[in-house]
Amino acid sequence: MPSFTLNGQPTTLDVPDDMPLLWAIRDVAGLTGTKFGCGISMCGACTVHMDGAAIRSCVTPVSVAEGKAITTIEVMDQDPVGKKVQAAWRQIDVVQCGYCQSGQIMAATALLKTTPTPSDADIDGAMSGNICRCGTYGRIRAAIKIAAAT
Ligand code: FES
Ligand code: FES
Repeated sequence: MPSFTLNGQPTTLDVPDDMPLLWAIRDVAGLTGTKFGCGISMCGACTVHMDGAAIRSCVTPVSVAEGKAITTIEVMDQDPVGKKVQAAWRQIDVVQCGYCQSGQIMAATALLKTTPTPSDADIDGAMSGNICRCGTYGRIRAAIKIAAAT
């Protein structure tokens, strides 16, 4: 029965230890902002933060979260860096269909927390695992630079 902090709230879930964290977040805790894309760590749609680092929740057993702080897109507007990222996203209308975008924002926010003024190579390194079928990559990169400059 894993216990962790979920968006600042102490949380204990009566689920099997090997349940993917993504299922626990979406299906048990009811936070559906985090998306299922591939289920095999290839698309980034399921990206959340574990102790501030971007992780793929689809391939992370919920037991790995024991004692850790899990943060999802639902509270990024309360995070100083997440707020800047979302403002930049809105400023240049990054989103097309939107399906990949919570994962993109979580990855970008984690990047800017460790690298406040990222180079193109830094952005490529942090974001290359986040796939966007709508091809919003150019606007994502531009928005990250706007957020970094804010
Ligand atoms: S759903 Fe986790 S990486 Fe695609
Ligand atoms: S905005 Fe449609 S998949 Fe990225």
